[in-house]
Amino acid sequence: MSHPTADPAVNAAVARAAGLDVTESAGARILEIGCGEGHHLLSLANRWPGAVCIGLDAFPKAIHRARSRAQRAGLKNVRLCEARLSDFEPDAPFDFIIAHGFFSWVPDEVKVGLMDFIAKHLAPHGVAVVSFNVAAGWKERMIVVEKARAIMNAGAEDVMQALALYQTAAEEGREREIIDDMLAKGTAVLAHDDFAPVMDAWSLGAFVKLAESHGLAWLGDSVSGVKGNDAADNMAGRTFRSELLCRGGAVLGEAKKPVGEVSLHEKTRVDEEAGQRRGCRLLDFPKLDEWRMTCAREALPLPDAELKPCVFTFPQLKVLIAMDGTRSVYELSRHAKEVAPELDFVPWLKHVAGRGLLS
Ligand SMILES: C[S@@+](CC[C@H](N)C(=O)[O-])C[C@H]1O[C@@H](n2cnc3c(N)ncnc32)[C@H](O)[C@@H]1O
Repeated sequence: MSHPTADPAVNAAVARAAGLDVTESAGARILEIGCGEGHHLLSLANRWPGAVCIGLDAFPKAIHRARSRAQRAGLKNVRLCEARLSDFEPDAPFDFIIAHGFFSWVPDEVKVGLMDFIAKHLAPHGVAVVSFNVAAGWKERMIVVEKARAIMNAGAEDVMQALALYQTAAEEGREREIIDDMLAKGTAVLAHDDFAPVMDAWSLGAFVKLAESHGLAWLGDSVSGVKGNDAADNMAGRTFRSELLCRGGAVLGEAKKPVGEVSLHEKTRVDEEAGQRRGCRLLDFPKLDEWRMTCAREALPLPDAELKPCVFTFPQLKVLIAMDGTRSVYELSRHAKEVAPELDFVPWLKHVAGRGLLS
């Protein structure tokens, strides 16, 4: 599965709505910087055999694994390069540059190098997607990380045991929520996420300033195209952002409406019919599968049955996270009243089921 927020199909739709004449993903040159073992890039290469997909990572083991996966999948349109970004000299520009889970995990000089690289190697109508941790909400997590590290140093066996001990002492509230969220991620994810050796968080304002100082223009959020701001991030305690950039001199034409746009009401009806055809019905104990639950916990769009990303508001995500198969529709509707009072729960749940989001 691709990361929905860094999926060229999604990002191109946002860029086109902003008036940028982006190349069709199916025949594009796509680069992922810090591609790791290739789970994002390889799924894109598999979807678009006519695209040239290049993955770059400095960690030899990751590139080795990505190569073996690409080979086993029979992908002919992938090139995987073991190199540091600062040593990488591509032979042609890219229509899409992806840096997902990279910016916050590298030192500041590499962040600057990333912006330099994008400014130099993005095609005239290309788009770059860069995600990063947002200081507004991440600061609270940093405090939890520091305390958990102190518990580890005092003798806990590993991160999970330190967090479990911490959980018993923490009072109900935000701190406890963060600990619960970390425990749900598990050791492997935590080692590359909250507890990674380099991991920092920036404000959106500082990020945009850095991009603009390299001659890049900011197009907004990579899924919605909305241009957020630091004040709203502070109010919401936002932890993550994924933003779209293009060349400062790129010609922005007239906004193009997505083809086949329909009203939400009409869409709900169509989704319900499609759901019934697929044999979906409302289960008594709705449940998200593990992958979609992870997306909901990370506030990422959830892939529907056709792998199209579905974006939810934060209150709706709170309802989705409660769908672990242990709560009845009735219990969920009561929960929804509390955490998402604006939600018309039953039609919304039918919509969610119709899109094939429930397992
Ligand atoms: C947190 S992982 C993200 C992997 C993947 N993009 C994802 O979203 O799951 C960051 C990756 O960036 C790579 N990396 C870090 N610094 C790098 C550099 N200077 N040049 C190339 N790759 C780098 C690491 O080896 C690692 O695989």
